[in-house]
Amino acid sequence: MIKILVIHGPNLNLLGKREPEIYGKATIEGINKKLNAIAKKKKITLEIFQSNHEGEIVDKIGGARDKYSALLINPAAYTHTSVAIRDAISAVNIPAVEVHLSNIYAREDFRRNSLIASVVKGQISGFGIDSYLYGLDAAINLAKNNGHELC
Ligand code: DQA
Repeated sequence: MIKILVIHGPNLNLLGKREPEIYGKATIEGINKKLNAIAKKKKITLEIFQSNHEGEIVDKIGGARDKYSALLINPAAYTHTSVAIRDAISAVNIPAVEVHLSNIYAREDFRRNSLIASVVKGQISGFGIDSYLYGLDAAINLAKNNGHELC
């Protein structure tokens, strides 16, 4: 059974209202609805978690070992600052996909550095809500390649 943990980082609860010219008009509920629809169709299980707090995200990832086949994460602003989230992903040894709505390489200089990128299988950045959909596809494939068969 494929079970994927989806983590939305800080301020993503404000999507829809937050800088729509950068992040689009989709809300986090809208994104989650699309992810859940794909999960249902592909007969996999998702757990979706959003937090504005670094320690909560670290705890969630730290407890994920042996519970999830893959991790799909938009670390949001923590992408650029959090050694703790980076180390948590590295510690649990679950294949991970990093996603961003905006193209982090086409914005301010400080966004060009992801501390997370070196501990994930790959990164998808700049496709708006589709970044999550492509990311989920990638996470499912990683899980399958790790031997987590669909039930
Ligand atoms: C983001 C990009 C980050 O730089 C920013 O801090 C976010 C959202 C994105 O999805 O484009 O909060 O991760």
